Amino acid sequence: MHRGKGMKFVGDSRVPAERKPNIPKDYSEYPGKTEAFWPNFLLKEWMVGAVFLIGFLCLTVAHPSPLERIADPTDTSYIPLPDWYFLFLYQLLKYSYASGPYTVVGAIIMPGLAFGALLLAPFLDRGPERRPTKRPVAVGMMLLTLAAIVFLTWESVVTHDWEAAAEQGKIRAEVEIDKNADGYKIAQANTCTTCHGENLQGGPAAPSLVGTGLSAEEVAKIAKDGQGSMPGGIFKGTDEELKKLAEFIAGLKAE
Ligand code: HEC
Repeated sequence: MHRGKGMKFVGDSRVPAERKPNIPKDYSEYPGKTEAFWPNFLLKEWMVGAVFLIGFLCLTVAHPSPLERIADPTDTSYIPLPDWYFLFLYQLLKYSYASGPYTVVGAIIMPGLAFGALLLAPFLDRGPERRPTKRPVAVGMMLLTLAAIVFLTWESVVTHDWEAAAEQGKIRAEVEIDKNADGYKIAQANTCTTCHGENLQGGPAAPSLVGTGLSAEEVAKIAKDGQGSMPGGIFKGTDEELKKLAEFIAGLKAE
């Protein structure tokens, strides 16, 4: 029997009005278009599944997930980034009317309205029409939402400082530093550690001083005159102290 012919349906749905006894359908009308579920169909399904499984395995081996350094809850300068599918919400929180004193608007009210409307859609839109052209309001809202999500995700990607993000998450070699060495004490006394970190491992604003590959003379020059965004005149000690400090830092080798 042809499906739909002489059948009554409930409303616009695909549920037939009269329930039929559960007898397998007669496919003799379609010779060659049908096959046994076991083993023919299942074997095909399994082969497709295996292709995807092996494909994903190869991908994970070729592109291992990018690991960052161990999370440090005391590091308030670390700016976390959500996964790509939440970037649009993250971006929303950057706009002035949705952040700061209005965080509630960006974090709860706007997403709440959107998801609430989605939840209530079956109750709000009870028209029997199925065709998109006959449902301009619902389709318009959906397109608007999609456009907003695409735009916000895009904005978030192009405005993010990916270099700084890579820098802050970098895995740094942990190096045991002799904190009783004269060189370390001089570094501490001259505030080098406030920027370069207690272990001279680098901080949010300054690079690591471990394994710089610089000679003692070069370090001494930087300590006195500065370099790039490091101001000069930080070192305030004697020439002898400068030599000790420079030799100490030049001697810090990454393992
Ligand atoms: C105000 C923060 C600050 C302080 C304090 C500071 N530095 Fe720096 N330091 C920096 C920054 C920022 C850089 C990166 C400069 C650049 O190349 O743009 C840097 C770079 C360096 C470099 C070069 C590292 C490399 O790999 O090229 C050395 C060596 C260095 N600092 C030594 C010192 C010493 C020694 C002291 C203490 C006398 C000190 N710094 C104090 C901010 C600081």
